[in-house]
Amino acid sequence: MGSDKEQGVLVTGGAGFIGSHTVVELLERNVPVIVIDNMTNATASKDEEELPPVLQRIKKIVNPQQGEKLHFIKGSFGDVELLEKIFTKYAISAVIHFGGFKAVGESKELPMMYYSNNVGGTLKLIQSMQKHNVTNMIFSSSATVYSAPGPDDLPLSEKSLTGSCTCPYASTKFFIENILRDLCYADKNWTVISLRYFNPVGAHASGEIGEDPKGIPNNLMPFIAQVAVKRREHLNIYGNDYQTKDGTGVRDYVHVVDLAKGHTAALDVLPKKNGFHTYNLGTGIGTSVLEMLKYFGEVVGRELPYKICDRRPGDLAVMYCDASLAEKELGWTATKSVKEMCEDLWKFQSKNPNGYLP
Ligand code: UD1
Repeated sequence: MGSDKEQGVLVTGGAGFIGSHTVVELLERNVPVIVIDNMTNATASKDEEELPPVLQRIKKIVNPQQGEKLHFIKGSFGDVELLEKIFTKYAISAVIHFGGFKAVGESKELPMMYYSNNVGGTLKLIQSMQKHNVTNMIFSSSATVYSAPGPDDLPLSEKSLTGSCTCPYASTKFFIENILRDLCYADKNWTVISLRYFNPVGAHASGEIGEDPKGIPNNLMPFIAQVAVKRREHLNIYGNDYQTKDGTGVRDYVHVVDLAKGHTAALDVLPKKNGFHTYNLGTGIGTSVLEMLKYFGEVVGRELPYKICDRRPGDLAVMYCDASLAEKELGWTATKSVKEMCEDLWKFQSKNPNGYLP
């Protein structure tokens, strides 16, 4: 109020998969966005001076006036000096915090890097926010915070047991949630909404933006998409001897655009809420690896090759959520089917067989 600073929402990790789709939703609602991303896990432009390809493409999706509301700052969300500049220049109404390392296997090899970046960086972000009286945050959490569910524990609700995480990556999400909960308890000015994503897949319907993992994809759908464009020979299916409908793992896949809309829904309710809140974002529907492969093959128009391998250590048989709390309190439900997830992913992958760079 009374400030002539430009207002906006700060989006950490805004050049990443879920971040970029959320930036589109924000701009389409005419919300100015300040993206901070150090580009360690996103594709940078060859020319340092240029916007990262994903942000250039976002400008193609939204209208020119909305595109002007997009600002990019290259840097880390835990860089206090940079945050100082950002909070001084812009009137930030809320922070949507996607930034962080996210590879399960890597986190087991380099736990300190994960704790330092994800947890340490978030502490610095919180302290900078506090200094500038920015006390609204939407945190990018994960279904991985839940303790391994038995068959009677499904679907997972926000009240299900958390902790006992199986890797440092998951622990960082769990620890950050706890830090934010304690913060909100101690300081009643804070409102934090932590969104626990199930399995985000798909791409924007334009085919302009999508998931562009560096190296060999860890997750199922980007791997299948690379098999479809023949960058990979076949899919390795990690086990077909689980207690599931066809023996392969079952997950709650959710379209990334639905997920992105979960963030704008959360942003809308932030001013009406206080304290710390968690919500599951998923469809509540479980789909197996073989089913996903079949659906994707149908979209591509041919059967995709696979081999059955050993189970991946740490994998669970079945995960799916009860997303009714998000519906009740955020007015959010996933609307897109598994077929649409496959269609949109294929649109992006076939238009961009090698990702953002030719
Ligand atoms: C993984 C991460 C989780 C993270 C989530 C993000 C692990 C152990 N867990 O969960 O922490 O939050 O991604 O979406 O990595 N599969 C194959 N072949 C592949 C890849 C996957 O068969 O090449 C199977 C898996 O065994 C699983 C299913 O596909 O049954 C989904 O795997 P994935 O996409 O990696 O997601 P999650 O295991 O649910």
